[in-house]
Parts: sequence; structure tokens; C-alpha cells
Amino acid sequence: MQIGVPAETTAGETRVAVIPETAKKSLLIGVPKETAAGEKRVATVPDVVEKLVKLGFSVAVESGAGDAANCGDDTYRAAGAGIAATAAELWAKSDIVFKVRAPSAEEVGLMHEGQTLISFIWPAQNPQLMQQLAARKVTVLAIDVLPRTLSRAQKMDALTSQAGVAGYRAVVEAANAFGRFFNGQITAAGKVAPAKVFIAGAGVAGLAAIGTAASLGAIVRANDTRAEVADQVVSLGGEFVKVDYEEEGSGGGGYAKVMSEGFQQAQREMYAKQAREVDIIITTALIPGKPAPRLITAEMVRSMKPGSVIVDMAAEQGGNCELTEPGQAVVRHGVTIVGYTDLVSRLAKQSSTLYATNLFRLSEELCKTKDGVIDVNMQDDAIRGLTVTKGGEITWPAPAPKSPAAPAAKPAAAVAAPAAKKGHGHGAASEPMAGNKLAIMFGVAAALFWFVGANAPTAFLAHFTVFVLACFVGYMVVWNVTPALHTPLMSVTNAISSIIAIGALVQIAPPLAGGLPPDQWIRWLAVGGIALTAVNMFGGFAVTQRMLAMFRK
Ligand code: NAI
Repeated sequence: MQIGVPAETTAGETRVAVIPETAKKSLLIGVPKETAAGEKRVATVPDVVEKLVKLGFSVAVESGAGDAANCGDDTYRAAGAGIAATAAELWAKSDIVFKVRAPSAEEVGLMHEGQTLISFIWPAQNPQLMQQLAARKVTVLAIDVLPRTLSRAQKMDALTSQAGVAGYRAVVEAANAFGRFFNGQITAAGKVAPAKVFIAGAGVAGLAAIGTAASLGAIVRANDTRAEVADQVVSLGGEFVKVDYEEEGSGGGGYAKVMSEGFQQAQREMYAKQAREVDIIITTALIPGKPAPRLITAEMVRSMKPGSVIVDMAAEQGGNCELTEPGQAVVRHGVTIVGYTDLVSRLAKQSSTLYATNLFRLSEELCKTKDGVIDVNMQDDAIRGLTVTKGGEITWPAPAPKSPAAPAAKPAAAVAAPAAKKGHGHGAASEPMAGNKLAIMFGVAAALFWFVGANAPTAFLAHFTVFVLACFVGYMVVWNVTPALHTPLMSVTNAISSIIAIGALVQIAPPLAGGLPPDQWIRWLAVGGIALTAVNMFGGFAVTQRMLAMFRK
């Protein structure tokens, strides 16, 4: 297979593609320049090129592909990639192509039989593209249809990584259009009230927006039809505002369903109240495969304070706000309504880096042998899920994955420390225990206690009682702490464990009247013990203090 990239001459400069030795055996991953208007992202970055080369692949990048994401040709070359002069050349020579946006008709025309494409495809929305790809007899892995509920797949979840960037950028856009501070301040020139931000929809993008707005010091409120996200909202510094209507909004797989008319009416009333009170609304509400729900009416926009801002992240799917104009920022009734559809591209370096890492993780799954050769294993749930055409045959939609789904199913990994359900641990241990199992356990424990009580010496019993009570109190304390605070809890517990210093102090203390003085060696050992415990104690409290400061507003 021909995989070298020839020397090229541009404006007097001679550049020779640097294809490593391994190129002779391994497959070539090609990264073309994105052709969609305004798209600044690139499918791989130099840091990731190095990792791909270590996996045994050769990498070639179209000249200028990373320019808009601050990754120049030289940085790719330094990382071990070859530079192809034109898209035609790159597509012709690549065995695998990494892309961000679904290929245009022109790009499909450049594909050749046996090639593999990994990219966003949106197969449900693009049936014609699917036919074209199948006709080219290529294998296509659509990163957007990765089964997100598989916990193993989360490291490859580009929808999550990109939505996290978009949520952050939405807050930045809101701050840019808003004429005030986000945080409250007391200055010599007067008191400034904090901005109030309302986030509609607490999915991946919404949670990222909540965390970002809260870290800027705003008062953040959020609503979602899925009640299960309430704890995550709170753990990121927001307040969950409930709709006064009993109906669960979970539609399975971590996504929402269309709500009843009664719920929608109650929700409109709550949103109308929020619109009058808050300064900024960021809407992210979406139901897969449906137009975005209309949550903010023209009437609500009119009721907002002049200078307020709405960022409608669902603009591309029709918008959550009636007055949104997709792709534009407009002022209506004194309110700036931002409907940009390229929020991710506006942070091109960050989003490209995350996307490139997602594709690298996928490459690791495809190339477990680390020899630069891929195996599109249709028995693997994750790989099967995202393979939409294989060698010309349309394999989309994939059957539901067989492996167990990740708990809570909402892939919020991009967001800092979202808490699991309060009062529960992690993984299998957090499953509620069946009633009869619990009764058996209690029965066994009671019999054990009776046995110990009847047979053990009295001195042992006193210590044993204290031990059992300590276990019980410890269990109750830890289980009632929000999971997001478990790390500071551990560090403070560590500090408290330094109480063992008392033992060492007793050894140093002068002997009681009539008692034998302790051996000098024991004394010095005790001094050393106290010094070490002091580090543990003061260090533990200091670390806890710093960690808790991160959670305080
Ligand atoms: P997601 O599916 O993770 O989150 C959507 C959330 O909206 C879910 O939590 C869902 O329960 C909630 N929701 C649905 N109907 C609702 C209703 N009636 N009221 C309240 N909440 C409701 O989606 P993700 O990844 O967070 O993306 C959010 C939006 O941002 C999508 O519209 C997506 O297309 C858009 N997006 C826009 C970008 C841009 O550049 N403008 C970039 C990335 C994402």
C-alpha cells in the first residue's frame, strides 16, 4: 500500500513529508482540512499525533488543516506527521480518515474502496449521505452514534466533550453581551448585586454552563424535565428549580421525552416567573430526534429587564426561544438573543484537543494489538454501535448493546465533579439492597453479637462495643455526605486519625509516681512518631481547607 507523502513546493519552500519507518507496514491516518464554512476545528492535534504514532500508525495532515486551531504544519511535523499538500492527495493516500464534520459530496467523491472514515455523520438526518458512503464501499464510524450509555464508551464520547465546550462558551458569550459583573461586589463606588443566571436543560452542555456561571460568581438556577439531574445541578453550585407538576421526564438512555400538555403549562408559568427575575437565560433543552421544545416565548422576552441576555444553544434544532435567529445575535425588546451555532468552533484549540483525544481512545479500541492495523470488531458493543457502514453495507441503526449500561446513563464526564445520587456510593454497591437480603444480614449479625456477648471476656466486650458504635457512626456520617465532598472528607478523616499522637505523648510524659521511667529509645521513637503525625494532622486540615474552599462561593 502506497502511504508516503511526496515532497511539495510552495512559494519557494520545499517541505518533505516526514513519514516514520513504520509507515511501510502500518496504516496511514489522514486528517484533511475541514471544508464546512466557519469550521475551525481539526480532527487531531500534534500531541495526539505522537500517541497515534506510538500505536503504530502513520499520520498525515493536510497543509493548513490545524491553522485555525493554532496548530501549524510545523507542530504536526515535529510530532511525527507528514504534511500533504492537497486534500485530493491526502484522501487518496489515507487508509483511515479522521474528520470533524460529515463529509461533503465532494469529499465523498475523493474516497476509495476499503477506506475507513471516522467523523460526525448524523446518519438519521443524512440518509442521502449514507447512500453515497455505502456506494463508495467504505467503512464509516459515526462518532455521534456511539452508545453513550456504555460506561466503557465514555472516553470516546465526542458529543459530551464538545457539548461541554459549548456550555462553557455559551456563558462566555453571555458575559460578553451582558453589561455587568457576574459576581456580587462591595466596592468604594457602591454595592453590586450578583447576576442571576437561569439554565434551561441540565444535560452535558447545561451542566457545563452551570459550573462556569457559578465559578464566575453568579447566582445560578436550572431546570430540567429529568428530576435525576437535580443533585448534579446542586453539586455544581446551582439551585434546581422544580416545575410544580408531578411527571417524570426521563425517556431512557439519559435523554428526555416530550412532556404532557399539563406539565408544559406548569413549566411555562415557572419559566415566565424566572424570565422576570433573572438577567441571563441559557437554553440547552433538547429531545433527540425532535425539534427543540419552545420554552421561552416572545412574551417572556418582553418581560425581561433591558440589557438581559438569552443564549439559545438549541438554535440549530429550531431554538428554545421563539425570537432566536440561528447563527446570529439579535436584540429584541432590549434583550440580546444569541443564537450562534458554532459555539464549539469558537474554542477551536480546546474542542479539537478533546475531540482528538476521543478519536485516539477509539483508535486504541480499534487497534488493541498496537501495530497500526485496525479491527472493526462487530462483536464489540461500542464499535458495533458506531459503525454505520461496513465495506459498503449500511449497518445503521445498530441493535441495542448487550453489555450492562452505566448507572444514571447521563454522560456528564466533561463536567467537574457531578455528584451521584445523594446518600449512595458508587457502582454496584450503591444498588438498594433487597428487603429479605437485609433481614438475613441483620439476623446473622444479631446471632454473632449474642455469641460474642455470651463468650468473650468483659474487657474485650467494652472495646468491642466502642468499635461497633464507631463503625455505625462512621457509616452514617460518610453515607450522608454528598459524594462530591468525599475527597475532602477523607482528608479530614486522615487528619483526625492523627489522634494516635496521644499514644506517643503518653510515652514521652514523665512516669507517674512509683512507675518505671520509659526506655530512652521508646521516648525518641515517640518524638519521631509525634513529628510525623503532626505533618499528617496539620497537612490534612490544610488540604481539607483548600478543597472546601473550591466548593464555597
Ligand atoms: P443533552 O441531550 O445532553 O441535554 C439536553 C437536556 O435538555 C436534557 O437534560 C433534557 O432532559 C433537557 N430537556 C429536554 N426537554 C426539556 C424541557 N422541555 N425542559 C427542560 N429541559 C428539557 O444535550 P447537550 O449535549 O447538553 O446539548 C444541549 C443543546 O446544545 C442541544 O440542543 C445541542 O444541539 C446544543 N449544542 C449547541 C452547540 C452550538 O454551537 N450552538 C454545540 C453543542 C451543543
